[in-house]
Amino acid sequence: MGAEIGEFLSLDDFERHALAVLPTMPRDYYRSGAWAETTLAENRAAWDRLRIWYRVMRDVALRTSRAELMGRNAAMPLCVAPTALQRMAHPDGELATARAAAGAGVPMILSSLSSTSVEEVRAAATSVDPAARTWMQMYIGRDRGAVRALAQRAHAAGCDALVLTVDTPVWGIRERDIRNHFRVPDGMRIVHLERAGGPSGHEGRGIHEALAWTIDASLTWKDFEWLRDSSPLPVILKGICRAEDAARGVELGAQGILVSNHGGRQLDGAPATVDALPHCVDAVAGRVPVLVDGGVRRGTDVLRALALGAQAVCVGRPVLWGLAAGGEAGVARVLEILAHEFDVTLALAGCQCVSDVTSDLLRP
Ligand SMILES: Cc1cc2nc3c(=O)[nH]c(=O)nc-3n(C[C@H](O)[C@H](O)[C@H](O)COP(=O)(O)O)c2cc1C
Repeated sequence: MGAEIGEFLSLDDFERHALAVLPTMPRDYYRSGAWAETTLAENRAAWDRLRIWYRVMRDVALRTSRAELMGRNAAMPLCVAPTALQRMAHPDGELATARAAAGAGVPMILSSLSSTSVEEVRAAATSVDPAARTWMQMYIGRDRGAVRALAQRAHAAGCDALVLTVDTPVWGIRERDIRNHFRVPDGMRIVHLERAGGPSGHEGRGIHEALAWTIDASLTWKDFEWLRDSSPLPVILKGICRAEDAARGVELGAQGILVSNHGGRQLDGAPATVDALPHCVDAVAGRVPVLVDGGVRRGTDVLRALALGAQAVCVGRPVLWGLAAGGEAGVARVLEILAHEFDVTLALAGCQCVSDVTSDLLRP
């Protein structure tokens, strides 16, 4: 397996391999989108539609991919998106991802539905790089005390931001999981959500039936304000599609906007994130960083996102494919491929650094 991943040239190679080797239940849980998976497909297709009007003769011999990311420097404008239950892809799960992300010099967003605790993930990340960054993804569930406790835990563990996911008033319907009777494998735990006497979250038809209690359909902006005031950490809002919501979030104190449709797993028929991004960038008007995820698979997609005004992109599934192919080494290779592709893209587009990536590269 180790020798194999060295030969993988693209994130698509990892995807093909992972889909072939993973057992049905985790494979389908990871790959699936909601309903007809229209938005899932559109997320990827929309990047491909953008043409890059490259510049020539710009002396790109010395260039750098380094970028400001939420107020600090990162090796490139990329972070690892939160994905649940990474131990289903590899026994090292989130620990492998944490080490690989730290090694690559990019932040990791840890899912609140992770199979490893935030304390262990922080220890793994800082063992590689004491300055490694971890952001904690949160849902506001019905038990607000548990939400506040997790925010405090994340702060105490050394996370430097909260990422509040707001595109999940209810869970999207993923038919593959229902057909497979998805359940959390025996011996695996959704560690942050276990409470004495509370539902274990391990029963039900599909994870979303089992985890219905972890979200709350009654959420409003007031709940965001409550979380903002419950933690000293900056809060990034994840799952924004519309300009007015991006603007409202910033007015109420969000420190970042992550344009996302949950990888096509929530509302099928929602626009590709690349199509939502420019509206949100305009509405935010530079007040806070805008990030985007969904279908980012190539270094060219990273450049496209920046040209549309994003500060960085996040990648979800490719990290799971990397884990499935080779644990930490697999994720490291996925991030290395993206870094290399982005470096080559910068050069070929005539850019020495990320600040050379301007909107005219897409609309000359
Ligand atoms: C298997 C899987 C699990 C996910 N779990 C979470 C989660 O726990 N919290 C969250 O905010 N987003 C979650 N997401 C959404 C991702 O954070 C991200 O928005 C999406 O995967 C990006 O699209 P991509 O996979 O095409 O890169 C999950 C996505 C996948 C594929």
